[in-house]
Amino acid sequence: MSSSYVRIFDTSLRDGEQAPGASMTSAEKLEVARSLARLGVDVIEAGFPAASPDDLAAVQSIAAEVGRVPVEGRLQSDPPIICGLARCTRSDIDAAWQGVRGAKHPRIHTFLATSDLHLKHKLRMSREEMTAKAVEMVAYARTLCKDVEFSPEDAGRSDPEFLHQVLAAVIKAGATTLNIPDTVGYTMPDEFGALIAGIIRHTPGAKDVIISVHCHDDLGLAVANSLAGLRAGARQAEVTVNGIGERAGNASLEEVVMAIRTRGAKIGLQTGVDTTQLCRISKLVSRSTGYPVPPNKAVVGANAFAHESGIHQDGMIKNALTYEIMRPQDVGATHTTLVLGKHSGRAAFSKRLTELGYPLEGDALLKAFNEFKKLADRKKSVLDADLIALASDERATVPELWALEHLQVMCGTAGLPTASVRLRDPDGKIRSHAAIGTGPVDATYKAINAIVDLPVELLEFGINAVTEGVDALAEATVRVRHEEQRSAHGHGADTDIVVAAAKAYIASLNHVLSRQSTGRAQHPQSVPTEVSR
Ligand code: KIV
Ligand code: ZN
Repeated sequence: MSSSYVRIFDTSLRDGEQAPGASMTSAEKLEVARSLARLGVDVIEAGFPAASPDDLAAVQSIAAEVGRVPVEGRLQSDPPIICGLARCTRSDIDAAWQGVRGAKHPRIHTFLATSDLHLKHKLRMSREEMTAKAVEMVAYARTLCKDVEFSPEDAGRSDPEFLHQVLAAVIKAGATTLNIPDTVGYTMPDEFGALIAGIIRHTPGAKDVIISVHCHDDLGLAVANSLAGLRAGARQAEVTVNGIGERAGNASLEEVVMAIRTRGAKIGLQTGVDTTQLCRISKLVSRSTGYPVPPNKAVVGANAFAHESGIHQDGMIKNALTYEIMRPQDVGATHTTLVLGKHSGRAAFSKRLTELGYPLEGDALLKAFNEFKKLADRKKSVLDADLIALASDERATVPELWALEHLQVMCGTAGLPTASVRLRDPDGKIRSHAAIGTGPVDATYKAINAIVDLPVELLEFGINAVTEGVDALAEATVRVRHEEQRSAHGHGADTDIVVAAAKAYIASLNHVLSRQSTGRAQHPQSVPTEVSR
């Protein structure tokens, strides 16, 4: 591997999933993992197997289905490394190994904090005890797996000399990657770059292992810090799609990758990522987590390539280089106009979905195709973004316990907004109710609540046009919380915004109900941790 190659380690399914309310079902995680493999990432951190049996099962299925055979569309011939996180305890390391052992290239990632703050207040350990524990657990992990990553948590606020000692000791114990986290997003780029350079210079054995960077975004510096670390010699970047993660999130995959690609000549680094898939995976992760992508988000935001001012538009017409440092097609941001029309057949529809990375089969394909036909009747041009929205609805990985059969609303400037709703219950019986509300969505949600009878608090409600124009497909995203449980999200797409809102709300209720039946209602943070994740 070239010395300028940066390994992309995606932790959307582990650190990303720790974002409040971003929990994904096992099936959603598998779908994201498949897309990450297609994208060309080198390592997928698939989860924290000790957190719950469900987390373990999700990691196992990713190891077996994504980590064993090359995923279609992946440029690299080998499947990615599948990694599982573990605290420095035997039981966590055993669980991580159970999770990843089915992969062709498994990795155990274990961590223990090195900052005096964490040692004193959280771990209540001396520096010597910490070092001994890290060495013992890295050595133990090496008895199971030949690829072991160690992270000194809160490295950004640790005493560099102590850090060098710990890192030298874990290299001797068998660690193959040393990941340096700025756990609380505290450092400045020059400090973080110097930290990495110091580790490479002063840690015996550091040149024989891969040094990795893992930066949080509390001060908005995660990407800048990651790049500073890479320019100082690190050769792995731990990132998440859309920058999701604890608190302000992690360094964003698409920003790190595009900075390396766009400024490659200056910084002399490269990755193996197929950047044309960035927008697509951004949408998938946004949908799976219920975290919308802000329109001004770098690289993948809806406005990332929009030029509003006359002066900019004039420049763009004369030469796109005047105001564009990346081409929209390089990140997959182009809208292919009218790929399919109302006369297109099912085979063409199915083929296009597969090309877009959203393959459907059987009933799901049939249902999506019927929706496509209805849409093609109503909408002038059906774009890729429309197809993805339709396919995502059919690929919904939460069982459709309750389903929308019929919705009628009356609203306007006169009279009270009224909604009559008919739902199919989990036993297939039809249940109806009518309600009034402050607006058509409020009335619809009140009617649904009266039927489903699942008390939830509505935390977020958002509606977006999938494409431009008044005939656009609307996509609604809803986040709800039931009692003290982790919040759950749902989304729905339709040309009618009230129908999209109803579908999204019902999907979020199905999410809550399906979690109750699989016993994953608890927040993973309620897993006892002597070390925070
Ligand atoms: O931010 C952090 O310190 C982590 C470690 C587990 C790598 O996520
Ligand atoms: Zn982290």
